[in-house]
Order: sequence, then C-alpha cells, then structure tokens
Amino acid sequence: MQSDVLTREAIESQLTTKWLGRPVTVFDAIPSTNNWLSEQAAQGAAQGALAVADVQTAGRGRMGRTWQSPPGAGLLFSLLFRPPANVTPGQVGLVAAAGAAVGIAKHLGVDTRLKWPNDVLVNGKKVAGMLGDASFRDGRAEWVVVGIGLNVNLAPADFPSPPPGGVEPTSLLAELGNPIERARLLAAILAAIEPRYEALVAGEPQAEEWRRLSATLGQPVRITGGVAVEGVAQDIADDGSLLVKQDDGSVVSVAAGDVTLRQS
Ligand code: BTN
Repeated sequence: MQSDVLTREAIESQLTTKWLGRPVTVFDAIPSTNNWLSEQAAQGAAQGALAVADVQTAGRGRMGRTWQSPPGAGLLFSLLFRPPANVTPGQVGLVAAAGAAVGIAKHLGVDTRLKWPNDVLVNGKKVAGMLGDASFRDGRAEWVVVGIGLNVNLAPADFPSPPPGGVEPTSLLAELGNPIERARLLAAILAAIEPRYEALVAGEPQAEEWRRLSATLGQPVRITGGVAVEGVAQDIADDGSLLVKQDDGSVVSVAAGDVTLRQS
C-alpha cells in the first residue's frame, strides 16, 4: 500500500454516495469529530455532512469513556443525520452500525458481527465503536451525529484497554494481516450506510438485518450503565431496543446501556 494519507481529495475521489459524506471536512487533529459536527449541526449544517480526523485529542467513547487512536492508523469520523419524526436516534445508530459492519465485510471479505447496540466485531473482537449525540426539540430528534471509531491499521501495542468485562479490542490490520487504505474503506462504509438509512426513513423495518448480524442474541447478558438488567438477549425491536428475557420470564426492553456476557 502507498502512504495512507487521509485528505479531502482522497476521500471525495472514492465516495459513491449521493448525499452521505457531503460535504467532507478533514482535520489532521481535533478534540473530537462528534463535538465539532454537533456544533455545526446546531448552526444548521445539512444532513450528510462528514467530519474526519487523523487524530483526536479528546475523543469520546460511550458511557463517558475516552476513545484513543494513534496518528495515521484509525478511521475517526462523524456523520450528521436529520431524521424525520418516525425515526429515533437509536435506529439511526443501528443502521449506521449495520452499514459499517456490512461495508467492512464487503470491502475486505471478512465476517463482521454486531454487539448491541453498535460495536462492530471481527473474530469476536471489537474493531469499531459508535457514539451518538442528538438534540431534541418538541419530543423528537432535530439532528443526530453518529461518530465511528474504527481500528484500521493499529498495532496490538496501540489497542485501547477494554472496560471491565468488555470485549477484547483488535484492528483490521491484526485480523487480516495487511494494512488497509482508509479512504477507500470509509467510502465503502458510507456506501453501505446510505441505502440503509434511506430504507429506515421510508419505513422499511431494519430489525431483520440487525438480528442476522447480531452476536448478542441468544446470549446470557448483563446490562449496565442505565437500567441494570440480567437475562437472555432475546430480540431486537424495530425501534432498536434490546429485548431481554429475565430469569422470572418477564421481558424488558432496553433502549441504551452496556452489554457484558453473564457467566451463567
Ligand atoms: C465506543 O465507546 O465504543 C464508541 C467510540 C466512538 C469513537 C468515535 S471516534 C469519532 C467520534 N468522535 C468522538 O469523539 N467519538 C467518536
């Protein structure tokens, strides 16, 4: 592979989408692409806007965690959506996760899975995580920013430490054994997210694909970081919630949280 410099020109030359990823703004370094794009969204930026950074100095993960990635090795980007009233931020996150999983799989010929709500796994290890930010008005999301952190060309020494009970991290380089050109991979991911988001907006149920990709369903799980629930992950509802069957037989719908596998 030639040197893998992430530039606006390199990304634009690979994009095949109609509106997703346009316009693209690329930063050598920025505190957080999610923070920057959320500010742009609040100022009226259009749906589809993409922010990409080679380095984040204050990258944010889910549940108040940080997200770290060394220079030149990760894909760190955020996408702006302005969903209609029938679409929840959780659903936007899930179509983004499904698109990322399918985009990576198709582009690289590797099997990918989703750990609810939106971690992407390769060989059971985490290659990507997602963080959603949203602004609500009159009971609906005015905008949703989905930030994706993907471990592309990271060496094992640079893998982030997993949270307690969390999934072991990996990178595409570690799993595939060869470095990957980030601009092409980014374009492949956006090409997979765009039609899934359009189908979601058109009212087509997406849960079937989430079920097919899910590494969580059928597993004994413990949910933390919101409601505390234990049981077996039974299904994913159309609104993106995880349905957990508790030991007493009752089924709880979980909209957000951290899933760890329960030793039963
Ligand atoms: C997780 O905890 O798994 C979610 C990680 C999300 C990281 C991405 S990197 C691009 C975007 N900007 C951020 O500050 N976070 C997200």
